[in-house]
Amino acid sequence: MSAAAELNEEADYPEVCSVSRVLGTGYNLPDHVVTNDYFASYLDTSAQWIRDRTGISERRWVEGDVPASELAEPAARDAIRRAGLQPEDIDGIIFATVTPDYIFPSSAVFLQARLGCHGGLAFDVNAVCSGFLYAIATADALIGKGIAKNILVIGCDIYSKIINKNDRSSCILFGDGAGALVLGANTAAESGGKDSGTQVVEARGVGVSGSGETLCGIYASELGADGRHTGILCVPSGTAAPVTPESIKTDAHYLTMDGREVFKLAVRKLAEINESIVVSQGFSLSQVDWFASHQANQRILSAMARSLGAPEEKMLSNVEKVGNTSAASVPILLAEAEEQGKIKSGDLVVLSAFGGGVTWGSMLLRW
Ligand code: UT7
Repeated sequence: MSAAAELNEEADYPEVCSVSRVLGTGYNLPDHVVTNDYFASYLDTSAQWIRDRTGISERRWVEGDVPASELAEPAARDAIRRAGLQPEDIDGIIFATVTPDYIFPSSAVFLQARLGCHGGLAFDVNAVCSGFLYAIATADALIGKGIAKNILVIGCDIYSKIINKNDRSSCILFGDGAGALVLGANTAAESGGKDSGTQVVEARGVGVSGSGETLCGIYASELGADGRHTGILCVPSGTAAPVTPESIKTDAHYLTMDGREVFKLAVRKLAEINESIVVSQGFSLSQVDWFASHQANQRILSAMARSLGAPEEKMLSNVEKVGNTSAASVPILLAEAEEQGKIKSGDLVVLSAFGGGVTWGSMLLRW
């Protein structure tokens, strides 16, 4: 339990700290819709099987060669605009992806060049489907240290380029997309007026709420990995497995997945980390307004809801229309939910993700 939570175990509303908060969101999906019928037209599967076992009806794929930074740019511009900022106000870009423009330079610097906001920090994060959680937690820490003020956090993946389109057990799941969020320093003056009584305890703007207050911003994050499970979800092409004419002939360089194993681990870990992040800050699960979890499979989301004892309406979901967009999944979900008027200012939200590595991450924030 954090020091802040320990201090306020008895309080109705726990005292929480926050150094950064969400200023704006955006997302971008390719125009091209790929329905389940497409897979049924050439694989031994059916639209119904895919719908029943995953909750997915359609996903979007890019057409032709689209670099990740190009797919991300409209999402980034929307997030910056909704934050009330200009590209030149952005002094950091963290780009979560496993499908970057190139091996290097990073997609973050390509995006920086597209946006025309030179000079700030820019780097990519590879934590597969948990990449966005790793990226936003890193951005929060950098803002807390005063290294950057307004960080553009991107989740963007183009799995249509790395899946084996003849593997019915994996290719049906994944879609392409990009989500973006601008994270800014949290100060009393900038907290939207909901934090009367909030103290600014450091020059950088670490806000601390008192009892009954609703300080907006990120309260806590938890990240983890278990490298014993590298083999269950993997794209085996790189220095350990260079792409050769033979590997191309046998499709060995594409994504491979033990879906059943990933499913079991994901359900267990997601339920565990959602509960622990909420309880660690002195809240109860019933106080959470929205669970924004990685969109891999509707059955995973339903199992999570059952395990947490949370009503399924609180589990945000867009997997039916978008599929699994890996690092883009959580930020697309958040941007859509805000656009649809679901997530509102002051809501208590838990973000969580689980993916290849295996990796996981969770975050508790007040929107
Ligand atoms: O983002 C994180 C990464 N990914 C995930 O989180 C994915 C997690 N896993 C899943 O979502 C599910 O495991 C899948 C959707 C991939 C598979 O669903 P499942 O209910 O776990 O199926 P299964 O792997 O247990 O396979 C059941 C049967 C198998 O046939 P047999 O061995 O029972 O004859 C599969 O070959 O379903 C078969 N199958 C399919 N049948 C029709 C697998 N894929 C398909 C398909 N159409 N597309």
